[in-house]
Amino acid sequence: MNMIDGKLHRYAYLLVYGCQMNQSDAERMMGQLRTIGYERTESMEEADLILINTCCVRETAEDRVYGKIGEIKRLKRERPELIFGITGCMAQKEGDALIKRAPHINFVLGTNKVHELTRVVQEIQAERGHVVDVQLGETELPDDVPVARAGSLSAWVPIMYGCNNFCTYCIVPYVRGRERSRLPEDIVREVEEAVKNGYEEVTLLGQNVNSYGKDHKLADFADLLKMVDEVPGIRRVRFMTSHPKDLSDKVIAAIRDGEHLCEHIHLPVQYGSNRILKAMNRVYTVESYRDLVRRIRAAIPEVSLTTDLIVGFPGETDEDFQQMLDFLREIRYDSAYTFIYSKRSGTPAATMENQVEESVKKERLNALMAVQNEISLAINEKLLGRTLEVMVEGPSKNDASVWMGRTRTNKIVLFAHAGEKPGDFIDVRITHPQTWVLKGERV
Ligand code: SAH
Ligand code: SF4
Ligand code: F3S
Repeated sequence: MNMIDGKLHRYAYLLVYGCQMNQSDAERMMGQLRTIGYERTESMEEADLILINTCCVRETAEDRVYGKIGEIKRLKRERPELIFGITGCMAQKEGDALIKRAPHINFVLGTNKVHELTRVVQEIQAERGHVVDVQLGETELPDDVPVARAGSLSAWVPIMYGCNNFCTYCIVPYVRGRERSRLPEDIVREVEEAVKNGYEEVTLLGQNVNSYGKDHKLADFADLLKMVDEVPGIRRVRFMTSHPKDLSDKVIAAIRDGEHLCEHIHLPVQYGSNRILKAMNRVYTVESYRDLVRRIRAAIPEVSLTTDLIVGFPGETDEDFQQMLDFLREIRYDSAYTFIYSKRSGTPAATMENQVEESVKKERLNALMAVQNEISLAINEKLLGRTLEVMVEGPSKNDASVWMGRTRTNKIVLFAHAGEKPGDFIDVRITHPQTWVLKGERV
């Protein structure tokens, strides 16, 4: 706490795990905290309030949070007035069990309660008690929640909350509730405001953006893409995640025709054999997915396709796994996020027979990554000598004289810095394509 200009300044430290939706929620938490006098700090030691916005999609994500909770115990002992809260998916899943396990936590706020953060913090400031609020209602986040965006170029814009798909391995539907779509005019207004504040890129967020509007029926995802594409001043529109079962030809045509809609589709396949896809309740088949990819590539030849893959799902055999590798070699994704199946209690897969041994999972993960890396490199090598439009982001991690930006297809490009500013659009000729980055020269 600090007095500046006679005003009380408090500091909030936010630690955010998990997906972009969690990042977006955290921006709305920080927005609210600002209204009651908190500024964001990057130092835990300086903080008056520490918030962990948690993820529980895999056990490793939860372990990391428990580690942090332990670390914060010391800070609380030194400064009992410190307020410590847990929000997000693990808060939703564990509820007051978290406080039983770690009584130095002041509050646990569920995923549907993001907009109640200021109320809870003020209650604790006044009374120092414990608050747990994890009721999973059908209410969506009200549209007037202030947002303090973390980045200055690219804005996350949630278009829907929750998930109805119940893939058998996944905890998300249980901790995020049913699908609720925001109204198209509210989304467009948020995009317009972001552009007014200097953002050139937006990413539309949802667990399954292709089922946008199936509830209110005021606009479907293709309609929404078109509306956002037409917002004056917008330069790039991204969106994720696309569930293959709902990606319509209308959406493909919208991406093809949209001026600012980026040619990148994150289209998680999860697995490459019909037997496992069925057990996962993914609804599509290898054949229907293949046909979808064919239609996408026919309409948008420049498109980059990325995916999520899970190895070690219960019952996975060597034969399934070989089919998956063959499928990867056939589809040829630009890149893939690869995960080891993690048992989530309460989900159907957790109690399925024939759980795969850890050592086998690890072996398969390595084999999968090796195949994918080869493919990513081969695809990137084809870009040698090509000139691509890059949106400049800033210095690269390791070398301040080398800056990074992204292509429309979401590939990272490194180039020697020569006065460019974040947000500039420049043309870069690719001179050294690699597996995860493209190195090039400005033209
Ligand atoms: N809604 C998105 C992604 C949600 S979670 C989608 O359907 O694609 C992000 C990724 O985590 C998933 O795509 C999946 O690959 C992975 N994942 C989810 N549950 C998992 C589990 N129990 N074990 C391992 N990976 C999991
Ligand atoms: Fe999880 Fe499936 Fe929903 Fe994605 S679509 S969030 S993987 S249940
Ligand atoms: Fe994790 Fe929740 Fe996202 S479980 S992946 S933070 S929706």
